[in-house]
Amino acid sequence: MVESCTFVIFGATGNLSRNKLLPALYHLELAQRLPDKMAIVGLGRRDWNNEHWRQWVAEDIGPKARGGLDEAILARFQQRLHYFQGDFGESETYQRLKDYLEKETQNFPSNSVFYLSIRPAEFSVVSDNLGAVGLNSEQEGWRRLVVEKPFGYDLESAERLESRLHRYFAESQIFRIDHYLGKGTVQNVFVFRFANLMLEPLWNRNYIDHIQITHAETRGLEGRAGYYEGTGALRDMIQSHLLQMLALVAMEPPPNMDPESLRDEKVKVLKSIRPIPARAVNAHAFRAQYASGIINDKKVPGYLTEEGVAEDSTTATYVALKLYIDNWRWRHIPFYLRTGKRMATTTSQISIRFKRVPQQLFRHTPIQRIEPNWLLLGIQPDECMRIELHVKKPGLEMDTEITTLDAAFCRQGEMKLDAYEALLLDVVEGDNSLFLRYDEVRWAWRVVDPILKVWASERDFIHSYGAGSWGPPETSRLFDREDQHWRNTL
Ligand code: BG6
Repeated sequence: MVESCTFVIFGATGNLSRNKLLPALYHLELAQRLPDKMAIVGLGRRDWNNEHWRQWVAEDIGPKARGGLDEAILARFQQRLHYFQGDFGESETYQRLKDYLEKETQNFPSNSVFYLSIRPAEFSVVSDNLGAVGLNSEQEGWRRLVVEKPFGYDLESAERLESRLHRYFAESQIFRIDHYLGKGTVQNVFVFRFANLMLEPLWNRNYIDHIQITHAETRGLEGRAGYYEGTGALRDMIQSHLLQMLALVAMEPPPNMDPESLRDEKVKVLKSIRPIPARAVNAHAFRAQYASGIINDKKVPGYLTEEGVAEDSTTATYVALKLYIDNWRWRHIPFYLRTGKRMATTTSQISIRFKRVPQQLFRHTPIQRIEPNWLLLGIQPDECMRIELHVKKPGLEMDTEITTLDAAFCRQGEMKLDAYEALLLDVVEGDNSLFLRYDEVRWAWRVVDPILKVWASERDFIHSYGAGSWGPPETSRLFDREDQHWRNTL
């Protein structure tokens, strides 16, 4: 039986809350997964009351509700919603918040989740203030603090943040979220790798040529300049989501599926990533910014003219990296990572390129020579696993063609929870298996930190790419050989 709780959202009217948290909570209501008495308290600066907030939430999540809003479910969901007016930057807010949460007439469950859907620079202000008024104390019920990414701004600030959070909160209370770990296909990487014996013997430097991890999205800033300008694609996507995917693809089989065992294996991978020295940063990393262009037949503005962006901003909206993992399994095998906003399409995929066959037996045929195999893991929107194989074309000639073994991950009509839905439920249920341990965060910062430092000192130039494209063609300079190229399709 899941215990009820009060779910307090700091930054309730912000972008993340509107686009991910509130819709996810609504969908959990729809799936009847929220505990009976659970209350959701939105904390915001605006001078609103419960009624206003309930109405606003209904209008805001309406277009994001799968299959449209269900009026009866919405009505039940709205009853859980409460609004607390306060500025989380001011310490007086917290005593008021405590009194409000504990007020008998409210009848809020005493277990509480504090979800920090705010700028990373403000995480420690909130945790300190919660602690100062005793809202960290688990005497009356459990308290959980959910911290969004990026965890810190660089390695040094992450270390500082970690010790600040621990001033008042124990490790068991801190949930460092990376929503990619809530995605079904990301979790499927474990099953795919460790439940199928036939793949494991090939999963190493002897058979794999290189691995690509791509996250592309057509979305632009969506009003998030305040967050994004100081963050950029390397911190926003690579330090967290893409390095987590890399860790899952590259890790050794864990001794068991215990969360700590999995984290230990991920940390071993992150620790083994070869540090990039400052002088080699430009050979291993590439950054760019989108210019105006066409997306879905519509003209979209360039990054520099987005609202809230400095006119001389060098914030990267596209980053590509080449990393090596110095261990027995992967030594000398490049891992190419890339992410970009305002790209040609929206896709997240892991593309594994095998080596060439040792002898080209079919080179005399009229077709070009046989290309090495790809194994493709689609994370989104297609959730699939595909292996491209060469087969003989029907007919008299010894011609070959590519056929695809396709294992779709989702069945039509199946009810599934999206990443935030799954992870919010885990928070409420107290299961932190899919949340990050601090050492994962620290080792991931160790990978990106040298790049951030060099880019911070080279502030005057940044490549650009047209919105709606696949990024600047110059990124191909990262490839080790001419026959390596980005795989854009599944
Ligand atoms: C977030 C980033 O963590 O992930 C966003 O802050 C990005 O900039 C988003 O758009 C992508 O997530 P998803 O699940 O839509 O691929």
